[in-house]
Amino acid sequence: MDALGTDFAKIGSILSGSLTNSKVRIRGWVHRSRTSGGICFLVVRDSTGVVQCAIKKDAVGESSFISASQAYIESTILVEGVVKQDARAPGGYEISASSVKLVAQGEPFPIAKDQSVEFLLDTRHLWLRSQRLTNIMKARHKIIFYLREFFEKEGFWELAPPIITGAACEGGSTLFEISYFGEKAYLTQSSQLYAEVFTTALENVYVLAPSFRAEPSRTVRHLCEYWHLEPEMAFYDQKMNMRLQERMLEYVCQKMADSHPDLLLAIGRQPEKLKAVRAPFKRMTYEEAVEIAARSGANIKKGQDLGADEEALLTKDEEKPVFVTNFPKEIKAFYMREDPSNPGTVLNADVLAPEAHGEIIGGSERIWEYDELMRRLKENNLNPKDYEWYIDLRRYGPFPHSGFGLGIERLVKWMLNLDHIRDAIPFPRTINRVYP
Ligand code: 4AD
Ligand code: MG
Repeated sequence: MDALGTDFAKIGSILSGSLTNSKVRIRGWVHRSRTSGGICFLVVRDSTGVVQCAIKKDAVGESSFISASQAYIESTILVEGVVKQDARAPGGYEISASSVKLVAQGEPFPIAKDQSVEFLLDTRHLWLRSQRLTNIMKARHKIIFYLREFFEKEGFWELAPPIITGAACEGGSTLFEISYFGEKAYLTQSSQLYAEVFTTALENVYVLAPSFRAEPSRTVRHLCEYWHLEPEMAFYDQKMNMRLQERMLEYVCQKMADSHPDLLLAIGRQPEKLKAVRAPFKRMTYEEAVEIAARSGANIKKGQDLGADEEALLTKDEEKPVFVTNFPKEIKAFYMREDPSNPGTVLNADVLAPEAHGEIIGGSERIWEYDELMRRLKENNLNPKDYEWYIDLRRYGPFPHSGFGLGIERLVKWMLNLDHIRDAIPFPRTINRVYP
């Protein structure tokens, strides 16, 4: 038996029942192992699941049996045998081995049960093989797939923004500065300003790219590097923007609940929770949100931004996301258009995810007129020189437009009901960790 080639069954097909009583070859890694007398039970995993293999000395020969029973957790192995239905085996099937080959024994795997969080983060490159992280990464893939599918159906174009930029999008305090051949440059905080450029040619666009925030916060929802989905739409006002967000979240939640209930359950998420996410969502103004949060005991005054505690109070009993609109312009970014019918506030909305997960989307109608943009740059002490190209969009064929930014890991954390955002991304970058 050779480890290369395509002549292998996937464990997932065995577990689906389609290979019962057939002879198969599988290829994978030892997940669990137990030997007693002349029989060795190896639970083998591949990318699609785990299956138990019963390896008898009489059936495979002495030397193969010895090497199989000496396999470590995570040793690489090939097994050939007949698939039997067996209620006692995990997943309900067992392979009765006729031949087994240890491809590589390797060294004893360092991760055993009950390791500390820090140890598991130090060995993240190995821990990513765990069933839990494998399932979460599969769900993450599907969630991103359905987001792209939604925008494809809506006729949007996906474009690639630059990651190295010359100016801030979301304010200077969380910028990562880099040396760019002796010039100051930054890792992008948001691709929004470039997405706005793309609307002038392609109208409805999105980018899916990493954003970087030098966040000094050590919370369950902050990363220094996260994946950011940023749609931007020509001729959309803020109401249309919010309706699009609602439909997008409904789409991805319904798709996950309908198409991947087993994956959700394996992660500990009830599919019904996602099934409940149907448009329209509740809308409240910032002013109402502050009153509600203060009444429920939050320590917040008007004019202050909503924090994790306030967002938790606002959403802990909600089944669906909630829009909070019309924030004071002083606490929001320079590019948000002032609300003509509610001066002092902007035409924006944050989407707060239910069950206390908090903000997953920030979006707004953009300032599209030259004079208003110049005024707001000034009020924000930003140098128009740094934004010349962005200002140009208000010189040549300006038009109303809106957009939003969705944090992929925040979305995954909520949809899968994870305790911590770090498990929504393979290699979390946080204030005290860039290894591995
Ligand atoms: O609210 P933010 O800062 O808005 C923007 O960057 C806009 N330019 C987006 C736009 O309109 N195109 O970030 C948008 C979203 C947040 O709602 C949150 O989901 C996520 O990005 N986010 C983070 N996710 C993980 N870790 C962090 N440190 C994050 N900061 C923001
Ligand atoms: Mg925000």
